[in-house]
Amino acid sequence: MFKDKKVVFSGVQPTGMLTLGNYLGAIKNFSSFSDEYRCYYCVVDMHAITVRQNPAELRRRTYDTLALYIACGLDPEKNVLFVQSHVPAHAELAWVLDCYTMFGELSRMTQFKDKSAKNADNINAGLFTYPTLMAADILLYQAELVPVGDDQKQHLELSRDIANRFNGVYGETFVVPEAYIPKTTARIYSLADPTKKMSKSDENENAVIRILDERDVIIRKFKRAVTDSGCEVRRGEGKEGIMNLMSIYGAVTGKSPDEIESEFSGKGYGDFKLAVGECVADALCGVREEFARLSADKKYLEEVMARGAEEASRAACRTMSKVRRKVGFTDRADVR
Ligand code: TYM
Repeated sequence: MFKDKKVVFSGVQPTGMLTLGNYLGAIKNFSSFSDEYRCYYCVVDMHAITVRQNPAELRRRTYDTLALYIACGLDPEKNVLFVQSHVPAHAELAWVLDCYTMFGELSRMTQFKDKSAKNADNINAGLFTYPTLMAADILLYQAELVPVGDDQKQHLELSRDIANRFNGVYGETFVVPEAYIPKTTARIYSLADPTKKMSKSDENENAVIRILDERDVIIRKFKRAVTDSGCEVRRGEGKEGIMNLMSIYGAVTGKSPDEIESEFSGKGYGDFKLAVGECVADALCGVREEFARLSADKKYLEEVMARGAEEASRAACRTMSKVRRKVGFTDRADVR
């Protein structure tokens, strides 16, 4: 079914309830690749434990994230949907790649710096080598394209450097991946502070739209969104809040910034915020309903996970056996 197709890979951490940033920056775009590419979409539970998690909650959120993938339009018949820890080759390749990644490179990762500042009592080695596991995720499947938000750009660049370094030493082994970052929704900002990324872990609930928020909650949060002291809906300096709302409105309605400006010319921020809230609530309503249906069907989700892991393992094993040969490991008895 997938023969000779180019590969897309992406992943989402099953931590916290996913946000409008995760949706517009990443997940919403995933399904657009399904016809042309062989797509692997992973729930990255191994990345999640770089920060302390409640085990029961992590397990539940892993199911939830898979259900959300499907609810957001990813058909398990057309995409390989799976859980990272179900394919041990991710950990295996990550170790090999650790040996081809420099301490200095990992030290420069801004996400490592941010997360170590936030988790000062738990700056563990996994947090430090997080990007190598991410490179392993991508390189295992020989992915050409990796749809992500802007915050993952540096990790993607490192994945490319690692692939090029390994290929330079051992000859062509990995496809060198490219980030696919959407233009207008590369970074959705916090509704409470439009200079900050909208983040799952924000303590201020008003700053974040969750994909599963109820309609009235979504509208209320948009009504409270921090803007500026002006009143014109247009782009400009000091208007980060309005521009963030314009990107969201544009992504959901398909309207360009010019169209949005003329639609709201002469109207105030109140009208605009209400329109943004309503269109987002409408767009997410179907996702919420589908999620409720799917998350009640654990058996189905487990079938999808099992099928996904089997498919993914097959591709991962092909790359791993190539890697093992190249670095000089002896053949394993089960694959000899
Ligand atoms: P994670 O779980 O933090 O986020 C999942 C995806 O959502 C995007 N994103 C955003 N996009 C726009 N605006 C925002 N405010 C916003 N917040 C999050 C992220 O860029 C991401 O695409 N390390 C990754 C997961 C990962 C991965 C991979 C991704 C692990 N292995 C391999 C791609 C390929 C992460 O923590 O994403």
